[in-house]
Formats: sequence, structure tokens, C-alpha cells
Amino acid sequence: MSVALVRDKQETEGSSLAKPLLRALAGERLETPPVWLMRQAGRYLPEYRDVRARAGTFLDLCYRPDLATEVTLQPIRRFGFDAAILFSDILVVPDGLGQAVSFREGEGPVLELLRSGADLKQLDLGRVPDHLAPVYDAVAHIRASLPRDVALIGFAGAPWTVATYMLEGGSSRDFLAAKGWLYRDPAAFGTLVDLLVEATATHLIAQIDAGAEVVQLFDTWANALPEDQFRAWVIAPTRAIVSRIRHKHAGVPIIGFPRGAGLLYRDYLTETGVTAVSLDAGVPLAWAATTLQSLAPVQGNLDPGVLVVGGDAMRESVARIRAALGQGPHVFNLGHGIVPATPPEHVTELVALVRGDAN
Ligand code: CP3
Repeated sequence: MSVALVRDKQETEGSSLAKPLLRALAGERLETPPVWLMRQAGRYLPEYRDVRARAGTFLDLCYRPDLATEVTLQPIRRFGFDAAILFSDILVVPDGLGQAVSFREGEGPVLELLRSGADLKQLDLGRVPDHLAPVYDAVAHIRASLPRDVALIGFAGAPWTVATYMLEGGSSRDFLAAKGWLYRDPAAFGTLVDLLVEATATHLIAQIDAGAEVVQLFDTWANALPEDQFRAWVIAPTRAIVSRIRHKHAGVPIIGFPRGAGLLYRDYLTETGVTAVSLDAGVPLAWAATTLQSLAPVQGNLDPGVLVVGGDAMRESVARIRAALGQGPHVFNLGHGIVPATPPEHVTELVALVRGDAN
């Protein structure tokens, strides 16, 4: 390697290490924690609603690299977050596998139902890279457009959470269809989860290849499983995905979000090998500091409802979280995604509070 190339490489690595999110995920305690918010692009922003109205369907927005880039960058421009998260959805993976997904206004996602193990044969792993190519184009565009200290996060849903949508045909309260598969026919359920492990690892590796510097796995419905099932369908598949990513990209941080895992957050962290865990709003902070943050960086855990309310409630919550998690590596975030009722001014104020420059 020529001297110039070596210097270039060092500069690139040096500058990427300077990104606050990457420093915190490497285990560094920062005086001011990096801040970004789950679902930071979305309907609470008027500029998002404008692009959304032009795009046609929600999936058209996900599969148009120019528009996905634009809505990813909107919250960076407005709030100056330390990270951008790719604008996409966890349900592009079933869509890529060939289980058509649509989003109906006011109804949430609708998926063609899988009725039995035989229906799984219609799903095709080979379809994923081509079908999701526009997502990777968006990643490359976003990476090229970001300010130099802002990190790019790619993401996917974890297999259990994505399987619930595939087996329920959409959102659910009780997951009885998914649980019917899981308890009556664990072999067929396992076939689906194995397929999702492969598809998810492929999807995340392609995002990293295209320029994602961190990836996050959303296991939004991890709270719905008892311990034995949590170990089988949350921890084990996540561990398999982590190991596939590490095999190809050893140094890329992986954030796991097993929402509602309670005491199982600890085994999730140690047994999956994720780099960091994202804490839901219910995790007691003193416990998180001693049990989790002593082992790994933590992210979270402001109640999204507090961000809607703002004012003193928000100031107190931010101070409480900073005091509890400020002694170790911490990424400031919510305990779950931003809700559409959130006033954008509260987000501006939150970022100022976290950075200590609010008056
Ligand atoms: O964080 C970000 O800004 C990146 C974008 C992102 C979206 N969805 C965009 C989106 C991310 C990370 C997701 C993840 C996601 N999607 C999860 C896991 C995290 C969580 O919030 O629990 C889940 C369960 C989904 C599935 C999903 N997508 C549902 C149930 C819905 C309908 C409900 C809703 O909020 O509208 C979606 C649609 C969706 N995904 C929207 C956005 C901005 C709203 C659609 C619209 O604009 O019309």
C-alpha cells in the first residue's frame, strides 16, 4: 500500500471513529451522549407528510431511493441528530421474500396470510437481494449526503417480530395465530424463523456493504413470549444473525432492541453477542446501569409519551436518565418510536437538553 493510501485509510478510520455514536458504541463514556430517536422520520414532521403524499403508497416511498434519502435526511437537517436511521420498514423483508405487503391508511400493514407449513414454500430467499436493491441504493445515497460526524444506522426486524406480522397478516394484540404455529407446530415455525435468520442477515449485510455503519435489530414484540420461548425464538435467532454479520463485518456495531424483555435483557445481551442494547421505557435505570451498562453500551429509554408532553416532565426525565446512565457508555434515545402526536419543537428542545445547551 502506498504511503498516501495508508494515510487516507487512517484519516477515514480516524474520522469515522470521531463520530460520537461510534465512540459510544465502542464503549466510550462521552460527556455529552450522542442522541438520535427511533422513528425520527415520520408523520409528526410536516416535511415528511409532504413527501409521503407525493410518493403514492408507503412502500413506494421505501423503494424510491431519492425519496427515502430525502425523508431520512429531514430530521438530521431539522434537529442535528448524531445519527441518521435509514428510512425503510421491517416489513420489506417479507415483501422481498414474496409475501406481498401493503399499508392501508389508518389500518397499518396488511400481509397475505400464510395458512400452513406448505405456504412457506412460496417464500423465496433468492428474491431478497434484487427486490430490496433500491433500499441499498438509498443507503449509499444517504451515506454520501450525511455531515461527517453523523453516523448511518441500518436496521431490520428480528425474526420473532417479523414472523408475528407474517402469521397474523398484520398487527395483533395477542399473537394467537403466531402462537398457534409456535406451540402446535414448532417445526414449521422453526422453518420460518430459519428462513428469516437468513433473509435478515443477508439484508443487514447488504446495508453494511452499501454504507451503513451500525445496524439495529428491532424485536418490538419480544415482550409477548415466556422465558423458554424467548430463549428459543428471540435469543437463538438473534445470536445466529449476529454471528453471520460478524463473520463478514467483524467491527460493525449491532444494537439489539428486545422490547419488554425485562430481566431477560441480561441474557439477551450476553448470549446474543450484540454490541449494545436499546432499553424500553420500563427498564429500571439503576438495574440497567449495574447489570447491563457494566457489560456493554446502553441506549434509551425516554418514554415517547413524555416527548409529546414536553415541559417539566421532559426536563425531569432527561435529567433522571442522564444521571443514571451518565457514568458509562450511553446513547440517548426513546424507549420506543416517536408517535405522530409529537410536537417537533419538543424534539428540538430535547436535543438541546441532552446537549446541555438549553436555557
Ligand atoms: O426510525 C425511523 O425513522 C426509520 C423508519 C422506520 C419505520 N418503521 C418507518 C415507518 C422504522 C425503524 C420502522 C420499524 C418498524 N416498522 C417496527 C419496529 C419498531 C417499532 O416501532 O416497533 C415495526 C413493528 C414496523 C411495522 C409497521 N410499519 C407498522 C405496524 C406500521 C403501521 C403503524 C404506523 O405507525 O403507521 C408501519 C408503517 C410505518 N413505518 C410508518 C413509518 C414512518 C408510517 C406509515 C406512513 O407514513 O403512512
